[in-house]
This record gives sequence, structure tokens and C-alpha cells, in this order.
Amino acid sequence: MQPVLHYRNHELYMENVSLQALTEGNATPFYIYSRRDIVDNCKAVMNAARGLNVLPCYALKANYNPAILKIIKDMGFGADVVSGGELYFALKAGFDKDKIVFAGVGKTAEEIEYAIQIGIHSLNVESEEELKLTGEIAEQLQSKPDIALRVNPNIDAKTHKYISTGLYENKFGIMPDQAVSLYQFAVKHPWLNPVGIHVHIGSQIKELSPFTDTIAFLKNFKQKLADNEIPITQLDLGGGIGINYDKSLHNLQQPSTYIDTILPQYLQGLQTLNSKLILELGRSIVGSAGLLITKIIYRKKTPSRTFLITDAAMNNLIRPSLYNAHHEIYPLTEPNGEWETVDVVGPVCESSDYFAKNRNLPQLEGGQIIALAAAGAYGQALSSNYNLRPRIAEYLVNNDTVNTIAEAQSIEDIANQYKW
Ligand code: LLP
Repeated sequence: MQPVLHYRNHELYMENVSLQALTEGNATPFYIYSRRDIVDNCKAVMNAARGLNVLPCYALKANYNPAILKIIKDMGFGADVVSGGELYFALKAGFDKDKIVFAGVGKTAEEIEYAIQIGIHSLNVESEEELKLTGEIAEQLQSKPDIALRVNPNIDAKTHKYISTGLYENKFGIMPDQAVSLYQFAVKHPWLNPVGIHVHIGSQIKELSPFTDTIAFLKNFKQKLADNEIPITQLDLGGGIGINYDKSLHNLQQPSTYIDTILPQYLQGLQTLNSKLILELGRSIVGSAGLLITKIIYRKKTPSRTFLITDAAMNNLIRPSLYNAHHEIYPLTEPNGEWETVDVVGPVCESSDYFAKNRNLPQLEGGQIIALAAAGAYGQALSSNYNLRPRIAEYLVNNDTVNTIAEAQSIEDIANQYKW
């Protein structure tokens, strides 16, 4: 079978759809996702979990388009949510309430109440105050939720500092020593059922070693709790498995996620702990499946630079501006001319509005269309209306068909939110 993305007759195809042909009837910019890629990523997780007691959940924050949620739900996944809004979307997309976990450092009383009322799988609690509030709300509702405490293991995830979460300097989780006394509090609480330990050390992790460190931490910490007569039956491992953002034009066949290489060893490493394992994967499920398709509006030369100015901007995909993230660029028609070094930038009034700096690309002219690769996770989900730029459409490819899964916003849609 052809890889999901490939050139055929000099045109870039996603599955069996020519993207160049698609742009002829549809305005750019837009996001487009491959159903097959998402399904394959889910299957890779299922393979890694085969025969083990694992609940794979999907972290909605990476991409909450309902059509995408339904694909993942149909693969048997649960959901990891971090807000009342995400919980609402997860339920509306049909995720089983028994497979929903709720994390987040700042859950409001309303959100905690909503989750307990629904009766989700478990709440991941991140502070002493939140634990006490959860106990009070549970008592009012006369309902005893399963909870896990998110523990901060002080492990370096070896990733960008903005997406590192498991170090003591980060706002996430509870210090292990304090966590022991909070578990003791929870065990005695008539309306709390502490069943799990939650950890999430960061995102876009490409090596095994931070996960091996996490295994060692969990073994130790679970034993410490056992010594204090606190029985733990589930370990929520968070997300964090990275994807390959460097898959170049000439090597579209390389694998895109690190699910196959990291996850089986991670899960196997925890088998001796006889616990149910929960995963909260976002990027590794949807990241490789999405492209941001954008047209070059202008080409502009200055003494020191050549700029390609696109119709998409940082408000559509903020990852390069925010994390200096690298997204490969594929022209929709296969290039055969000269290559040159360019900056690819958007129209927003910020110098940080760029997609690539000093990038070697085939020579491209105004009017040509490019794809920003691996934009399925934290792309549209992190978009905004900055510079009053309406949110763009999203399409889903399934073999040779394309469906609109989110309409583009119009400027009237935005205007209607305001009082005039
Ligand atoms: N669980 C928790 C508690 C999390 O905080 C996150 C991500 C996940 C699971 C999912 O992690 P993943 O499998 O996607 O690595 N906007 C950034 C990434 C932020 C990640 C936030 N937390 C980016 O574009 O790289």
C-alpha cells in the first residue's frame, strides 16, 4: 500500500486524494487529516497494549474535532480531558463515561461537580486544596469518585521547556513526600476512593530513558504507598510519546510516531506492578495525520533574505512561533527545479509569525501551494482569531473521499459574539 502521503504524477496525495486538485475548488488555508493515519496510530497503541491491562485514552487537547474524536472512540479508546468543555465534547462524541479521565491543575468547583455527577473513570487531582474540594463536592453529591493523585517525579523529559511538566520547577503535580500524606488523608476520607497514581512528564519525548526513569519512580513510589497501607491498583502514565517532525520530502516512508519503539517497552516495564495502566496520548495519535495547506501569496526579496508570504499565519499554527518547532514543508506539486534558502512567513503583524527560517526549499512562486506537515496535533486546537483572522476549515480524507469536518468561520461569526 502507498504511504498516506506520497507524490503521484507529480502531485502530493493524501491517501487517494490529490491535494492540488482539492485546492482548486476550496479556499486556502485549511487543515486536512488522514483517517487511515489516525486509525494506524490507534492500532499501533493497541498492538503495544495487546494482552496487557491497559486503557488507552486520547488527550482531546491535541485536536478536538468531533469527527476525529469519533474515529478514535470507535477504535476503543477512552478520553483524557482537562476542562468541562473537553468533558462535554468527549461525552457528545460518544466516549464511554467509564473511560474518561480528567486532569488539570486548575479544575473549578463546577468542573469537579460535573465530572463526579457524570461518574467518569477517575479524576487526577493535582493539589491539596483541590483534593479537599473534591472531597467536599463528593460528599454533597453523595457519590464516591475514584481518584489518582498526580505526582511530580522530578524527571527531565528532555524536550522543549514549555512542554516539560515533570520537574519540581513546573506547576504540575504534587511533590512525592506531600503526596504520601495526601493519600493518607484520601484513604480516610469517606467520599474519596484513591486508586491510582498519575504522572505526565512532558510531551514530544523521543527517547526511552525518561520513561525508564518514570518506571523506576513508579515502582518506588507505589512501594512507599504500600508500606503506608495505601493500596494502588492503577497507574496513569500520561502521554508524551513523540512524533517525527523531520520526515523530509524525499523520505516520506519513514515511520512517523515513536509509538512502536517506545510504548511496548514502557508498558512491559510496568508489568510487575500488577496494575491497570492508563495512557493519555494526544500528539502520537493525530499529529502525523494532519497537514496545514496554505498558498504563497507573495515572494519578497530583501538584501539579506527571500520571504515567502503565505495565507496561513501563526494564528492558525503557532508551534513554530511558540516552541521554535520544525514542520516540514511539502509543495503540492512535485518540485524539479532549483532549490533556495527562504523564510516562510505569515501575514500577521509579528516578527514571530513564521513557519520556517533559513529553510532550503525548492524554488516556489506566488500562487503555489504548500503543505505544512505533521500539523494534526496542537494545530487548529491552538488557533486564535488574532488580527481578526477567522478560523479555517478542516477536512477529513478517507481513501478517495473528502468530507468537511469543520466549516471555516466567517468574519460575521466572529462579529456576532460582540455587542455593537
Ligand atoms: N496528559 C497530560 C496531563 C498532558 O498535560 C498532556 C499534554 C497529555 C496527556 C498529552 O500529551 P501528548 O501525548 O500529546 O504529548 N502544545 C504543545 C504540547 C502541549 C502538551 C500539553 N499536555 C505542542 O504543540 O507541542
